[in-house]
Formats: sequence, structure tokens, C-alpha cells
Amino acid sequence: MDRFMSHHHLARDSRFKRTDNRNQLMQSIPEDVTEIVRIFEKIAPKIRERLAGTELEAVYDDLGPGFQFLIASGGRQSKGGHSPLQVKTQLHGIFVGEMQALEAAGRTVWDFPDSPWEFRMNMARQCWDEARHVQTFEKLIDHVGGEVGQYPESTFLFETSCHADPVLRVTGVNRCLEGLACDAFRSLIEYGKAIDDLKISQSIDFVLADELTHVRFGSEWSREFTSGDPDRAKRAKDFQRETEQAFSFTGRQLAREERLEAGFTEEELDEIERIDAKLPKREILVEAAEILRDRHRARGRGETLSQYQGPASDESNP
Ligand SMILES: [Fe+2]
Ligand SMILES: [Fe+2]
Repeated sequence: MDRFMSHHHLARDSRFKRTDNRNQLMQSIPEDVTEIVRIFEKIAPKIRERLAGTELEAVYDDLGPGFQFLIASGGRQSKGGHSPLQVKTQLHGIFVGEMQALEAAGRTVWDFPDSPWEFRMNMARQCWDEARHVQTFEKLIDHVGGEVGQYPESTFLFETSCHADPVLRVTGVNRCLEGLACDAFRSLIEYGKAIDDLKISQSIDFVLADELTHVRFGSEWSREFTSGDPDRAKRAKDFQRETEQAFSFTGRQLAREERLEAGFTEEELDEIERIDAKLPKREILVEAAEILRDRHRARGRGETLSQYQGPASDESNP
């Protein structure tokens, strides 16, 4: 069996549609509605192509290239601040993330036969947890009326683990991405409580307890691997910052209490908040997305932009 496998070789059955969907774009967009509209109209064909063959194709065709900012909240069907479509896409995204976390931890056990036995035991323990999480989220997708494979799968989590140095794997995946999962899980638990859905709030609470352990593995092993080696420590720190920047998103509430318990320092959490604060605010993104939607619909009606009179009064979010 080969060591250091590429994400291109992850095996999936025919239900899954792979997409190349890095989040880097958000880091480069300014807090300016007109500019956001211009950028998204330019990359619209690419966005549309990524969704081809999945259920998001119809959502794009209705709402246009800024659809992701419109499905995030609001709308007539929303409960607990989330639209049903957002909950389904988020649970699906987490489900594929859990699969890749299992695959990444499994590869780490295999790729570093000379690493400390305790390290490989921790990664093996993580595989066991992630396998359970895959099952939990598969059931939650079913619980909210979704289906495995209905949305595209981005392999960013596994890609973040594709490093020859194990310290980069644990800083990128265990600390950054599983830290980010703690934020998302904390907010989903609150959502489950707000809509009185015990299946969501309790099952994700169990998963969150495991993720804390995985983040802690990352904190402890990154310290252990870099002790007495300032160059390696700097590479790990730089990679952590780079990964935090690539995956930060607007409106995130840091699960500070959980992250502190898992080995993050107050300074590290403040730095993540500073990274998030540089992104355009939610209201700006929604405003741009509404313009994108109206122009997209006007084009669908065959109007030229000079005939376009602005948004119709009866427009609403899904
Ligand atoms: Fe997990
Ligand atoms: Fe995990």
C-alpha cells in the first residue's frame, strides 16, 4: 500500500460528486457590495459548474451565484435562525468532513511507522471516533430529510492532511479544522435546543466531546514534535495561521470554552477572531447576494441590464 496518498485517490461510490472548492476566495474580497457583485458574476460559470449534477444546481438557477449567502438564514421557512436548506447542506458538509477526518487519521497511522507508539494510538483512537461520527451524521442527514450525495463533496479536509511532516497534519487538521468543527457543533447544539430537537442537540453534543479530544491531540503532539526545534515550531505556527486564514468565515462564534479546554491559548483565540474580523460583514454579503439574485433573474427573463429596473417588490429568500 502506498504512503502519502493524494486526495484524488479517495474512494467514493457513485452517489458522490467531487468538487474543487477551496475557500480562499473569501480572503481576497473587499467589504464593498459592488466589488463583491463584480467578482461573483465573473466566477459565476465556475460556481455553476461545481454544482452540476447535484441538488444545489436548482438552487443556483433560482438564486444565482451568491446563493450561499442567501440560504444561510432568514426566509419564511426558517426555524431557530436557520433555513431547512442550510441545515441540510451543513449536515452534509460535516458528514463528508467526518469521512475525510477518518481517512486522514487512518493515513497518519499508516504513513509514519517510526513515529511514537502513543501518537499512532491516538490517531487510531481518532479513527474509531470519526467512524462513529460518520454514522451519527448519516443518521442526522436522514433525520432532516436529506440524502447522502445530494450536495457536492469538497475534499479540503483531507487535502489539509496531505503533508509529509506529521506536525503539519495535527496543526492543520486537529487544531484548525477540528477547532472550527467545535465552533460549528456548538452552534448546531444551540440550534437543536432552540427548535426543541433533542436528536440534533444531544447527538452533536456527544460528537463535540470527541472533537475536544482530537483538538487536544493536535495541541499536545504539535508541542511534543516541535520541542527543542524552533524551525519546525515556526513552520507549524505559520501553517496554522495560513490554514486559519483559508477557512475563516463571517459571523462565526468561537467555542472559546471548549477550545481553551482543548489546549488553545487566549492569545491564539484572539488571533482567530482578528482573522475573522477582516472578512466582509454578513449584511454586506447578503446585500451583494440579493443584487446578484435580482440580476440573475432579470437575465433569466431575457431583460438586458439597461431594462432592469431593480429588485421586484415580492422577492423573498427561500
Ligand atoms: Fe469527527
Ligand atoms: Fe475529529
